[in-house]
Amino acid sequence: MSTTFTVDAATSRATPVSAPMKRLTIPAIRRAKGQIPLVMLTAYTVRTAQLLDPHCDLLLVGDSLGQVVYGLPSTVPVTLEMMSAHGAAVVRGSHHAVVIIDMPFGSYEVSPEQAFASAARLLKETGAAGIKLEGGAAMAPQVRFLSERGIPVMGHVGLTPQAVNMLGGYGARGRSEAEGAKIVADARAVADAGAFALVVEGVVEPIAVAITGAVSCPTIGIGASAECDGQVLVAEDMLGLFERTPRFVKRYDDLAGRISAAAERYAAEVRSRAFPGADQVYAPKA
Ligand code: KIV
Repeated sequence: MSTTFTVDAATSRATPVSAPMKRLTIPAIRRAKGQIPLVMLTAYTVRTAQLLDPHCDLLLVGDSLGQVVYGLPSTVPVTLEMMSAHGAAVVRGSHHAVVIIDMPFGSYEVSPEQAFASAARLLKETGAAGIKLEGGAAMAPQVRFLSERGIPVMGHVGLTPQAVNMLGGYGARGRSEAEGAKIVADARAVADAGAFALVVEGVVEPIAVAITGAVSCPTIGIGASAECDGQVLVAEDMLGLFERTPRFVKRYDDLAGRISAAAERYAAEVRSRAFPGADQVYAPKA
């Protein structure tokens, strides 16, 4: 996939903004610590990116696309190819938000050099501004190596879904004192290694508050605390596209219900021959 493709205003089904907005930058995101909360949502497609972009400071091409788009059982099978294709689409569909792409499981854990090769590929192929990787102190060398070589890194601590096989599920972390202390230490290690921001996922609230106070970069919470420096949700979750969502998700719409109702109406009209109507068919030349 190439970043040389851009959305063509003449052929796009959507209405791309006529005067592209100036895109936010990583330093601007860093400076937001303790200011107005940062808004981040996931996006995997050009159209979703177009719709979310004006409202968001950051768009995350999350590896959650494995479950949301591809119906996979976890994020573990997600590949660099998938992240690259969806990342390029989201960059094409956005003008304002900083676009961050998840590094998929297996693309960065072996060494800082492996992480650099994977991250450089994602940035070259998509035009995104930075990458996100999961893990604490064990990933600090990767975070430092990339940050010192010009690749902005968003960290991700607490519940780290790529480690689901080790964690045994997606329950909240940090319930014991020892586990809480380890998560705070992990957050510090990743922030000290140069992460420009940190996703704090699925932790008991006091841990999220402690991390936000302990690190100099903005924290972005999901199932964490309103005291984080920003919030992120999977867009399809908050839009109500699924029947089952985690407890920390607030639904702002019922897309599943509305899509089902529209499909039901369409099916009824096709079967009754009410669709297509006179407005939807071509008349012969007079
Ligand atoms: O993959 C993802 O969508 C994420 C967010 C939920 C933080 O990592």
